[in-house]
Amino acid sequence: MDTPTPLWSGRFAGEPDADVFRFGASFPFDRRLFADDVRGSIAWAEALEAAGALSNGEGDAIRSALASLLDEAARDPGFVDGPDEDVHSFVERVLVARIGEAGKRLHTGRSRNEQVALDLRLYLRRRIPDLQQATARLAAACLAQAERAGDAVMPGYTHLRRAQPILVAHYWLSHAAALRRDHARLAAAADEADQLTLGSGALAGTAYPIDTALLARRLAFTRVVPNSLDAVADRDFVSTFLHAAALALVHLSRLAEDLIVFGTEEFGFVELDDRVATGSSLMPQKKNPDPLELIRGKAGRIVGRLTGWLTTMKGLPSGYNKDLQEDKEAVFDAEDTLDGCLRAATAVVGTLVMRLDRTARAAGGFMLATDVADFLVARGLPFRAAHELVGRIVRDALASGRDLEAMTVAEWRAYSPLFDERVHDAITPGASVRARRTPQSTGPDHVTAAVAELRAWVGRHVPASPR
Ligand code: ARG
Repeated sequence: MDTPTPLWSGRFAGEPDADVFRFGASFPFDRRLFADDVRGSIAWAEALEAAGALSNGEGDAIRSALASLLDEAARDPGFVDGPDEDVHSFVERVLVARIGEAGKRLHTGRSRNEQVALDLRLYLRRRIPDLQQATARLAAACLAQAERAGDAVMPGYTHLRRAQPILVAHYWLSHAAALRRDHARLAAAADEADQLTLGSGALAGTAYPIDTALLARRLAFTRVVPNSLDAVADRDFVSTFLHAAALALVHLSRLAEDLIVFGTEEFGFVELDDRVATGSSLMPQKKNPDPLELIRGKAGRIVGRLTGWLTTMKGLPSGYNKDLQEDKEAVFDAEDTLDGCLRAATAVVGTLVMRLDRTARAAGGFMLATDVADFLVARGLPFRAAHELVGRIVRDALASGRDLEAMTVAEWRAYSPLFDERVHDAITPGASVRARRTPQSTGPDHVTAAVAELRAWVGRHVPASPR
């Protein structure tokens, strides 16, 4: 396609170099901002008219032509296409082609520098709620697993070594807790994007009496930027969004890693549904957790988007610099990747079968050593001494191939007269979890309350399904 006439052609003697023009063009990806760009322009046309910079007739013509562009693009997304440098140039070119002279007045007092920042702010404020909803849906899938697990127990791990028994429900609530922080972090990113940039001009502000407060309300912003020079290069809201996305992916990656490990033949705690597993082209028996591995892999990519973006920003002098154009691909990739990973994780968790017989069988034995120590502490022994003694009991039991739960009262009493027959009831996985007393603990009453609290949160954040 021919190189079109750029918005800035007047200053230049000839055509730009085709390769360099293509290199600098952002239309291949910023077309995604089309609707935001047009809505911003409709509001700008109103503001220009109110400022006396456009006649009523011109304002009307611009606004109705822009509105028809929105309709057309909604009907046919392929409409937003052409050889243009960027989405702003595309909209202006099509507008002028339709209404002529009046269209050429739209950009009065405005710069693409403030316009592109506006578009991206509008875009993120529009898109982030969808990501939040996808996050809440995954939390809902975790909730359903927690509810299904009832009072089943599993081993809790530290250092990926069996540590203490926990309720399976407690495990699922732990992932929901991280997802709720992601939800809040996304809200904070949307809040940071909530500032109107228009009125900043290229850097110094605009020479027309634009009512920025009115314009902000018109575009549903609650604030106006405080400084035009800062505003044209402020992409902190992009960094915040990328951080929120990267951290959400870190959480999804850790969930994925858990489920990959728990699904191995060695653990056998979970069984992936066939619909979310994959096979091997060679080994007929294989059932692989590819979606979970991809989630884990894609987390690396979005951490890269965040670090790449911060690196791009760090060297920029004040004011707009073209480096800032790199913001969009980072944002769009983070958005798409997070959305895809959330959906895949929701499908996996939503159909996952927990092998509660196996988690229960794995939750006893030496994991109850802390409960033995607590038994002695309750009978007066200082904790450090109890810890020492139980350590010796564990060592002996390991050496003789015994299990704590199988020891007789006589065997216990050989270690300390503080032991009596009640030790057997105290040293079971069920007694261990029931002994946890703090609200954040795996104590069954506390977990029941936490499940109810999560259910209420999900009710507020996931719209009821139509079914
Ligand atoms: N495509 C550009 C971007 O994404 C739009 C702003 C262009 N401004 C400029 N002075 N060249 O940042």
